[in-house]
Amino acid sequence: MSRPLRVVVLGSTGSIGRQTLMIAARFPERIQIVALAAHSNAELLAAQARTFKVSRVALSDPAAAEHTRSLLDGLNATIDRGPQAVVELAALESADIILNALVGAAGLRSSIAALSAGKRLALANKESLVVGGELVMRLAEDAEMLPVDSEHSAIYQCLVGERPRDVERIWLTASGGPFRGRTRDQLTDVTVKQALAHPRWTMGPKITIDSATLMNKGLETIEAHHLFGVPYDKIRIVVHPQSCIHSMVEFSDGSVKAHLGATDMRIPIQYAFSHPERWEAPLPPVDFTQIGHLDFEDPDYGAFPCLGLALEAGRTAGTMPAVMNAANEIAVAAFLRHRAAFLDIPRVIETVMERHNVESLQSVEQIEEIDGWARKVAEELL
Ligand SMILES: NC(=O)c1ccc[n+]([C@@H]2O[C@H](COP(=O)([O-])OP(=O)(O)OC[C@H]3O[C@@H](n4cnc5c(N)ncnc54)[C@H](OP(=O)(O)O)[C@@H]3O)[C@@H](O)[C@H]2O)c1
Repeated sequence: MSRPLRVVVLGSTGSIGRQTLMIAARFPERIQIVALAAHSNAELLAAQARTFKVSRVALSDPAAAEHTRSLLDGLNATIDRGPQAVVELAALESADIILNALVGAAGLRSSIAALSAGKRLALANKESLVVGGELVMRLAEDAEMLPVDSEHSAIYQCLVGERPRDVERIWLTASGGPFRGRTRDQLTDVTVKQALAHPRWTMGPKITIDSATLMNKGLETIEAHHLFGVPYDKIRIVVHPQSCIHSMVEFSDGSVKAHLGATDMRIPIQYAFSHPERWEAPLPPVDFTQIGHLDFEDPDYGAFPCLGLALEAGRTAGTMPAVMNAANEIAVAAFLRHRAAFLDIPRVIETVMERHNVESLQSVEQIEEIDGWARKVAEELL
């Protein structure tokens, strides 16, 4: 048998990162974890580093890196600190695959570094494509990029063996989140606890709030547009509360392929490693007789304005998606800290977008400068 895939996990202490390490633990002969990165969770990162005997660790928070150093005393590992140290791991010479599970636009530089170094990029960090889709996709022409987002993994798998010109439409499924069916007025006083109670998925806090506002589906539409080269008017969002179908592709002859399965991120994470092979399933098979029925409905754009704002940013293109994303990150963080109401999130995003003069996308430096401007304006509006 060939040697194991050497994998770097960026964001290893998060929801996706931890599930990735579960897969690595199941397949030690196929996956070797060579480096780990996180922001500040020193204890968990140190425990992971010991379990997987990694030689490189990076934390973007310098104080946490120092703490990790003391926790890993005796382990022969290099521990680096600062955001640049995380990016450097994305281009690690000895790695085959970089799994980018960082959260937010902070993941962009790592995606670019991984692709520039010719690594396979297993991409969970959808914000990389939202803010820098054109730049990332240009680099992906000469490297390999596999989506980890369950909807995009589903679409990717539906497209295997198909010709791009035969794609008529992408049906992007959405669970509808915890507030499906509510009117805008009924969203005024929702609490952080209610918004974090997602009916189908257990995820990190930022994406869980994005799912409650339906921003997540807007970000995923932009992600799908870039990943699959499909225009926005050929991507249709459909609310499907059972989340059994992970997405669908409709072809020019009227055939529709759907990807179905358990709502468990370990399946798409594993596929991003095993592709083009398939390995043993990480969980029991779905019993379709127990599902009963599948429902489909249109999203409520009036009650969930974040969805329309994200689509508008995507269609406007250039620097607008980065502005929309930065404003969302600030507003969501404020909501999570009880400094803003749920409906402040779309209010802030809309105002920041209105104040932005769109530019065509040129460079990472330009994105970061505009991202910084948008964060500052969003903070002022809160
Ligand atoms: N969770 C899911 O089921 C799911 C599904 C589809 C797509 N995604 C996407 O996957 C990404 C990760 O989501 P998640 O739910 O796993 O998030 P999460 O649980 O919040 O974890 C985020 C990870 O990134 C690290 N991190 C955050 N900011 C960082 C920075 N500036 N530098 C270095 N490390 C940083 C965190 O470290 P600390 O722990 O030290 O803070 C943590 O390890 C997001 O883009 C999300 O949209 C997630």
